[in-house]
Amino acid sequence: MSGRADFPDGFRWGAATAAYQVEGATDAGGRVPSIWDTFVRRPGAVLNGDTGDVAVDHFHRFREDVGIMGDLGLTAYRFSVAWPRAHASGEGGLAFYDRLVDALLDAGIEPWPTLYHWDLPQELEDAGGWPSRDTALRFADFAARAHQVLGDRVTNWLTVNEPWCAAFLGYASGDHAPGRRDPGDALLAAHHLMVGHGLAVQAMRAQRPGNRFGAAVNLYAVSPASDSEADVDAARRVDGLQNRFFLDPLLLGRYPEDVLADLERFGFAPPDADLAVINQPIEHLGINYYSRHTVSGDPDSAPQAASSPFAEHSPWVGSDHVRFPSTGRPVTGMGWEIDPSGLTEVLVRLHREYPAVDLCVTENGAGYQEEPSNGTVHDPERIGYLDGHLRACHDAITAGVPLRGYFTWSLLDNFEWAWGYSRRFGLVHVDYATLRRAPKDSARWYAEVIRRGGLGD
Ligand code: NOJ
Repeated sequence: MSGRADFPDGFRWGAATAAYQVEGATDAGGRVPSIWDTFVRRPGAVLNGDTGDVAVDHFHRFREDVGIMGDLGLTAYRFSVAWPRAHASGEGGLAFYDRLVDALLDAGIEPWPTLYHWDLPQELEDAGGWPSRDTALRFADFAARAHQVLGDRVTNWLTVNEPWCAAFLGYASGDHAPGRRDPGDALLAAHHLMVGHGLAVQAMRAQRPGNRFGAAVNLYAVSPASDSEADVDAARRVDGLQNRFFLDPLLLGRYPEDVLADLERFGFAPPDADLAVINQPIEHLGINYYSRHTVSGDPDSAPQAASSPFAEHSPWVGSDHVRFPSTGRPVTGMGWEIDPSGLTEVLVRLHREYPAVDLCVTENGAGYQEEPSNGTVHDPERIGYLDGHLRACHDAITAGVPLRGYFTWSLLDNFEWAWGYSRRFGLVHVDYATLRRAPKDSARWYAEVIRRGGLGD
């Protein structure tokens, strides 16, 4: 695609990371173990037995990393605050984020913290984890505490990241921590992640009503593989569990009736009172977009790339017969089909079908297996991916969508969950032996986009 695409003044140009994927320093004084510290030690859980123990050592190298962000011209940085650090008073505590936020502000970069990017303290998993309602209450306490520390300097807050993944990969397919496989528990986990969001927003808003709050959800464009009844119904179920199961409670205060009917056999009957908690007024919604799901209800159609290298068990609770056949579109190194038009579709749908709220793309990017040649990573595929998706954002803005910013995933190569370090999403290459950072071609390309405020011809 080509043609000029100028973005509005004040549009945020960002990049994102998450604590367990980049920080390392998991034994810094006072940090408690999280479910990922436990899960990575389970034989076979993560490719090559990789762990986040060191990751890319952002914890100790954040000043260098903020310097890189400054060189790129980023105007915003999305990071996550590690819950396992919340009760540490020493070196490993929340004071790290104090220093990070100050460094960002000094560099003119707006901090966008996320409060739950999958690192539940293991002690809370031992007490029941997200299927237990108490975890949501404990999350709100943590959110209030992080907000007390940072709320004087941080305006924009995201509560939970991708509750679909945390609940259904964590508690249904078992591909992510804590690695449980119980569909009923996964549904309760999803519900309580959203209750946790609502309680956290209430608690933080009470402390500083002027701040801006929201969640980050992973949404897909969804289409049936054919117009057969089976495919159309499978697409309805996937759209139901992936998108509407989260959007409807968060923005409309109710679960979609058809999805509740699909889930009846798991005894999922959330109390009405919780929906009012989940449906807090929010200022913005974060959208993580990577791909389109093309869905078939035909059990014989070939499955497409899975959510993890191990996916033996389906995360599609309530949908026994869903397949994701290939459409022949190009894929990234994750096997995910590249379809920028799906991002415009998702953004326009949100604007048309849900109450008005500012939108922000809080993740979008492409992972590959790649290595430098002569010291530089040449990554034209990533540049093509980002260019296409930024144009898709521009199309949405032209259609009237209040899209306020774009964060690419990710600033740096990092720990890609069950895939370990085998897939790289960064604009900046990290040599895992030396931890040396080196901007890829895509980093230089993005810096130029930011400098000119959009895409050229
Ligand atoms: C979703 C997650 O939020 C992030 O942690 C992950 O690394 C990227 N997408 C890529 O899979």
